[in-house]
Amino acid sequence: MQAAWFEKFGAARDVLVVGEKPTPVVGPGEVLVRLRTSGVNPSDVKKRAGSFPNLLDDGYVIPNSDGAGVIEAVGEGVDSKRVGEKVWVYQAQFGRSCGTAAQYVALDSLRAVTLPIEAGFDVGACAGIPIMTAHRCVHADGPIAGQTVLVTGGAGRVGYYAIQWARMAGARVIASASNPRDEAVCRAAGAKHVLNHREPGWGERVKVLNDGKPVDRVVDVEFGANLPEVLNCIRTSGVIATYSSTQVKEPPLPFFRVMYLDLAVRFVIVYSMPEPAKKLAVADITQAFHHAMLQHRIAERVPLREIARANELVEQGGSNGCVVVTIDG
Ligand SMILES: NC(=O)c1ccc[n+]([C@@H]2O[C@H](COP(=O)([O-])OP(=O)(O)OC[C@H]3O[C@@H](n4cnc5c(N)ncnc54)[C@H](OP(=O)(O)O)[C@@H]3O)[C@@H](O)[C@H]2O)c1
Repeated sequence: MQAAWFEKFGAARDVLVVGEKPTPVVGPGEVLVRLRTSGVNPSDVKKRAGSFPNLLDDGYVIPNSDGAGVIEAVGEGVDSKRVGEKVWVYQAQFGRSCGTAAQYVALDSLRAVTLPIEAGFDVGACAGIPIMTAHRCVHADGPIAGQTVLVTGGAGRVGYYAIQWARMAGARVIASASNPRDEAVCRAAGAKHVLNHREPGWGERVKVLNDGKPVDRVVDVEFGANLPEVLNCIRTSGVIATYSSTQVKEPPLPFFRVMYLDLAVRFVIVYSMPEPAKKLAVADITQAFHHAMLQHRIAERVPLREIARANELVEQGGSNGCVVVTIDG
């Protein structure tokens, strides 16, 4: 099969190779998916750059965890009626070497979810990391109907879906963005108010926008950098659900301030979501896909042979939406 892979860590253009690899053999409990799209996320580019030093111990890695395609074969114990089913897949390259940047992937049938007819393969490639992470951040700590949620970086891949899940669950959303284009994206996703996270003192601005009150929840993309401002605008016994801290990697924690606010901090990593939370997310995503309840932003579709460029687009940032690698043939 055609595939992209790396066998050393480094810059995308230096280490990503596109060529022929053996088509995987479907094992018991698995499905073989003929992929049409593969989603590229920061996690994938960080792994290629060496964030998991042991990743290459067993040989080459075919990157990317997310993707979508059609089931072509099933292993022992899987209903043969699944052959021909349109699916989106998740966690294809987590704890495993062979992800979705290829014509085929064989993986646990649980990780291949029906992609409703209403949803395209591009959208299917956004589900595993951006949509599931956002779902976990919004839903991990009880009902939010009637609450106010601050979503920082609301035009980011994850933030954009967090705004939408929070609105769907009956919350009022305040989002942050750094420019007018992203502000418009946040509003289109359902944010009632948007403020600029690059302006000093934005925590106070959140309270002004929330009629002088602190918010109930925060879904946060930059925990360490934003904590000082978040502590200025979250209520006592509020919850911060955070999924990243790249600017301040080892954040200092003002323990007494956090303790006297009786805060809960939820550290989210999509790969380690408990299975019941994954099941809930999958059910809500299926429903949302069926009824076109989620908006999507595809930054660019890039052919597999240009996968290095797709990695660079993710590395550049710029809040443009999901980067999708297309797989023909
Ligand atoms: N834990 C998990 O399970 C999980 C899952 C998915 C992603 N992640 C991580 O989450 C991060 C974001 O991923 P993504 O795919 O959503 O990236 P993305 O699409 O590039 O979005 C990042 C967003 O954060 C904004 N931002 C930057 N600094 C900010 C700040 N201090 N306050 C508020 N917003 C800020 C950016 O806006 P400006 O650049 O305009 O400021 C941008 O809109 C990455 O580090 C990724 O590895 C973790």
